[in-house]
Amino acid sequence: MERIYIFTRFERFWHWTQAFLVIGMMITGFEIHGTYNLLGFLLAHQVHTFAAWALIVLWVFAIFWHFITGEWRQYIPTMKGVDKVFRHYAWGIFQGEPHPFVVTRGRKHNPMQAQAYLAVKVLINPILWISGLLYLYYNELAGLGQSLDLATIALIHTIGAFMMLAFFIAHVYLITTGHTVTAHLKAMLTGWEGGEGEHNKKG
Ligand code: HEM
Repeated sequence: MERIYIFTRFERFWHWTQAFLVIGMMITGFEIHGTYNLLGFLLAHQVHTFAAWALIVLWVFAIFWHFITGEWRQYIPTMKGVDKVFRHYAWGIFQGEPHPFVVTRGRKHNPMQAQAYLAVKVLINPILWISGLLYLYYNELAGLGQSLDLATIALIHTIGAFMMLAFFIAHVYLITTGHTVTAHLKAMLTGWEGGEGEHNKKG
């Protein structure tokens, strides 16, 4: 099978930094929420606020990169082939069938994956980002006379956090569904997808 260089150095840097920060945001966020006690509220709050700014800088940088390189096109949604991919994950994968989608440099994500990533970018991230900033500057905004209820902001932020958690769980599962359990993980570490004896398909 053909071996292709699928993830550039920037994409790998962006992916792993984002993964590190988002995992940190989830660990500290759910501690602030009161789900468990790990770092202590104060430290969790400090780490959450620091990582929030790092994530915002990274997101702005990555959005800029996607537009100047044209890579934003990877996320254009399509329904073409979605049924085949859906059938694969619901049935074919358990029968050992090959993935119906062939990865190319121009189209790295299968149609279901592209839709999921687009939803993260245009829905989940903005929910967390906007509600997070409103949360962070609540006192200042209240001083300016706006009357948004803090409980509503917290609820929206928590809904965003659960959406991110659901995405994360599905994402980690799908990472393990390559031709070997670690094939997709290796691709995001080295940049190379496929190779001798591999399906060269991506979930
Ligand atoms: C993956 C991203 C993120 C996740 C999973 C996440 C998760 C959470 C969760 C679960 C809470 C507790 C909510 C509550 O019970 O009221 C929280 C609180 C908070 N988050 Fe986030 N968050 C994320 C990103 C952000 C961003 C980007 C910002 C700021 C721009 C932010 C700012 C805050 C603030 C200010 C609080 C409240 C802290 C406090 O009560 O002192 N978060 N976050």
